[in-house]
Amino acid sequence: MAISALTDAAEKAGGTTSVGGGDGGGDDGELTMDEKQEILMDMLTATYERLDDLDADTAETRARSILQGLGFTHDMQSKLTKDFSGGWRMRVSLARALFIQPTLLLLDEPTNHLDMEAVIWLEDYLSKWNKILLLISHSQDFLNNVCTHTIHFTHKQKLEYYDGNYDQFVKTKSELEENQMKQYAWEQDQMKSMKEYIARFGHGTSKNAKQAQSKQKVLDKMVRGGLTTKPEVEKPMNFKFPDPGHLPPPVLAFHDVSFGYPNCEPLYTSVNFGVDLDSRVALVGPNGAGKTTLVKLMSGELMPSQGDIRPHGHLKIGRFTQHFVDVLQLDKTPLEFFDTVYPGTPREEQRKYLGRFGISGKMQVQKMAELSDGQKSRVVFAKLGRDAPHILLLDEPTNHLDMESIDALAKAVNEFEGGLVLVSHDMRLISQVAKEIWICDHKTITMYQGDINNFKMDMRAQLNLEDDNKKAGKVKLKGDASVVKKADEKQKKMRGDASVAMTMEDSAKLLNDETASSKVALDSILAPKPRVAEINRDAFDIDDVRQSLASINDNKLNEAPKSTEITSDNVPPIRKAYVPPHLRNKV
Ligand SMILES: Nc1ncnc2c1ncn2[C@@H]1O[C@H](COP(=O)(O)OP(=O)(O)O)[C@@H](O)[C@H]1O
Ligand SMILES: [Mg+2]
Repeated sequence: MAISALTDAAEKAGGTTSVGGGDGGGDDGELTMDEKQEILMDMLTATYERLDDLDADTAETRARSILQGLGFTHDMQSKLTKDFSGGWRMRVSLARALFIQPTLLLLDEPTNHLDMEAVIWLEDYLSKWNKILLLISHSQDFLNNVCTHTIHFTHKQKLEYYDGNYDQFVKTKSELEENQMKQYAWEQDQMKSMKEYIARFGHGTSKNAKQAQSKQKVLDKMVRGGLTTKPEVEKPMNFKFPDPGHLPPPVLAFHDVSFGYPNCEPLYTSVNFGVDLDSRVALVGPNGAGKTTLVKLMSGELMPSQGDIRPHGHLKIGRFTQHFVDVLQLDKTPLEFFDTVYPGTPREEQRKYLGRFGISGKMQVQKMAELSDGQKSRVVFAKLGRDAPHILLLDEPTNHLDMESIDALAKAVNEFEGGLVLVSHDMRLISQVAKEIWICDHKTITMYQGDINNFKMDMRAQLNLEDDNKKAGKVKLKGDASVVKKADEKQKKMRGDASVAMTMEDSAKLLNDETASSKVALDSILAPKPRVAEINRDAFDIDDVRQSLASINDNKLNEAPKSTEITSDNVPPIRKAYVPPHLRNKV
């Protein structure tokens, strides 16, 4: 913007010079050569200052460090955006949203397309975000580590505001509900005894009748003042995976298993392990390391190139995949679907199975195409429960589930008598259900010595997110998205002049745009951004958020930004001696 204004001004200036020329000129308001040169130098200096203010010379380094944190290797950063899969494109748009350092950053489920490494990086990055962040996430540990305030969107479609992170919100909410319940019970009790007294002594002229009258007044006053309502406790969901019956070990054994997709490098070489009914495994590893492939090998969808996979003769496996929708017949209702898959089962029983997984009432008779992804995935879980498998293979089950469903899933898995292999980056779910952490990387499976919290700390150290990262290196991940150690980079000072609000969806739309998608990932992020609103906040406060949102609305988010043309009249004063970047090394 500043550069084009400068070019225009220079052209105008050039026009006058060519006519007047000469050194002594100056008649009829014409500028001398020296004066013109001085104006141009001032303008050039102002432009360089503006670029400096925007950190233009570090832009690429910053963009690369964000892309790297989100799992892009150096080579991937130069790949065309349109050649990435949907998940990676989402990461590009996330990187873009972070890079422009908006005053208000809106993120809707940003962890869904990330692997654990990137989630840990993002969690750290956002925990240091010192502007406004409005985050929607189903990942409780992520919310706990990033957020300082919580907005509860209640089932009555109201917004309730709480101080503190998710855990504090849960605690405060339950304390408030407890107090509300006590107050409600006390009021009801009081009212009951007053009403009884009034009914008994309210008539006549006795002393008691006078008391009854005054009690009636108190009662009326209580009602007028507004009575405490009974806290509505949302009915928890009650997922259940029935006891599949006993199978002696080994239930599912891998012997020297090697596997590679046709015409590709082997993904696994000589892998040995066993899964039994008491296995509770969380499978972790970088994107593309082969977790989903391993789940497919376990379920028999893929066959090993070498070695044996030996399932017990009676083994029933239940699998939840990232493409869970494929299991459903979307033109049917959940009940019709269950009738098709389990013919002859009484309606009441079908309803019961669906109801356990929160598919109740109207939802049971609604076409599945019209259900939300979360509801669809619960139908798939209901089917899993109905099938009574011995081993549950859950590949990224939480992406579409809300927190209540994730808790219900964790509870059901803990009560389950069969085995579990879980691929997830939801630390809280893993910490609730997993007894072992298996790392999928370097073409093999390794058991991690420690729990998921130790694993997370190791990962943080490896990503240089710890001050003391000298002890790092217990876990070295490779995969196809390994993170090269990055140089320590000091947190950049936030600048109040880059106030842009945007969501990942907006950003993703932008990347789907023809021109943007033919750019390499790095350039997509460096693309110029619209300037929308100027809001500077020193501290985060819920009221500030409300005001900011209102003020952004006032500023009409979608209106094209007005450019400020730099003319010889409004060139900002030079504040300091300035050396343009291209000359700095030569001084
Ligand atoms: N059907 C396929 N044909 C060829 N390569 C595949 C196929 N499916 C996955 N891959 C590749 O195999 C590797 C492992 O994929 P996947 O098991 O999905 O990894 P993860 O689940 O750990 O992210 C990736 O490099 C992926 O591109
Ligand atoms: Mg996968």
